Amino acid sequence: MAPSPRPSAGSTAIALPPMGCGTWAWGNRLLWSYDPSMDGELERVFRRAVAAGAYLFDTGDSYGTGRLKGRSEELLGQFNRTYLGPNRDRVLLATKLAAYPWRLTRGSVRRAAAASTERLRRIDLAQLHWSTANYAPWQEGPLLDGLGDLYERGLVGAVGLSNFGPKRLLEIYGRFRDRGIPIATLQVQYSLLSTYPVTELGLKEVCDDLGIRLIAYSPLCLGLLTGKFQNLGPRDRPPQGLRGILYRRLVPILDPLLDCMGAIARDRQKTLSQIALNWCIAKGTIPIPGAKTLAQLEENLGALGWLLDSGEVDALDRAAAALDRATIQNIFQTR
Ligand SMILES: NC(=O)c1ccc[n+]([C@@H]2O[C@H](COP(=O)([O-])OP(=O)(O)OC[C@H]3O[C@@H](n4cnc5c(N)ncnc54)[C@H](OP(=O)(O)O)[C@@H]3O)[C@@H](O)[C@H]2O)c1
Repeated sequence: MAPSPRPSAGSTAIALPPMGCGTWAWGNRLLWSYDPSMDGELERVFRRAVAAGAYLFDTGDSYGTGRLKGRSEELLGQFNRTYLGPNRDRVLLATKLAAYPWRLTRGSVRRAAAASTERLRRIDLAQLHWSTANYAPWQEGPLLDGLGDLYERGLVGAVGLSNFGPKRLLEIYGRFRDRGIPIATLQVQYSLLSTYPVTELGLKEVCDDLGIRLIAYSPLCLGLLTGKFQNLGPRDRPPQGLRGILYRRLVPILDPLLDCMGAIARDRQKTLSQIALNWCIAKGTIPIPGAKTLAQLEENLGALGWLLDSGEVDALDRAAAALDRATIQNIFQTR
């Protein structure tokens, strides 16, 4: 199947929904305890998300651990092929092509996209997963040119970036503009616990000026903003790996923010997750929360169809700013 309709050069309009779904957990045993027995539930998550209007799915060619590398793209391609329900024609399959150290040429980006297309069957949005500017600036040019080639050759519906800050974005923007290639999206870590590139660096304003839509990844701070890790019982296992680090760093100081979220949630008859996601939407970004179960997805969908008012957003901003530390930035995030 061909990618979704392409925007004309000079316009960045692809039909993005107010919220999407992340699929990092699909195939990831190490951090997310994935097991193939979850696939049926993940397919239900896919189907319900599309039907409810959260039809943007974010994956990556590096997703899946060990032998399961590529599993996230494979599952997504498989689920999409057999889905016949509402919004079928609106589904957006967005993948991220990793800037691996051995990907050095524009041809290597085309080969990576071909492999992802085989798993997904089509790519509606191809994103460069991270910038190499912080450690191998010479590598980035060919990768960006390769991304542009994908669009020019009609191999993908649109192109986007990930983990770029405003300074680096402005430096490379002309490279795409000169070829008449719109950058449709930029995704960065963004949540009440991670505002660095958007607020501190002013990324939203730059994206607005350039007509680029901002996608918020890890909008629940890997689950911490659901509040579920606050008072674990003696039998509950605390999260492991990267989540374990965040858990030890943030859980002890989170109560004031969660209290503020809780007060708004009670007023509005919403949950903490819904407040966290709606805050991203109120800030003009598209959150892509990961959901491993239908119940989690249903809860997250409750963030749609209403909007926090400016007083509530201000109160949440103040409560988040008052914490004495935030989450850890991806080391690839540029300024
Ligand atoms: N561009 C990048 O470099 C980059 C980096 C990271 C992520 N991403 C993308 O962003 C997506 C989302 O970020 P993320 O997965 O890191 O974190 P997240 O969306 O903040 O958290 C997702 C996790 O929280 C838990 N959860 C979700 N909804 C819940 C609910 N309603 N109640 C309780 N728990 C809930 C689930 O894990 P448990 O059930 O295990 O608790 C879920 O996997 C990823 O899937 C990926 O597509 C991109």
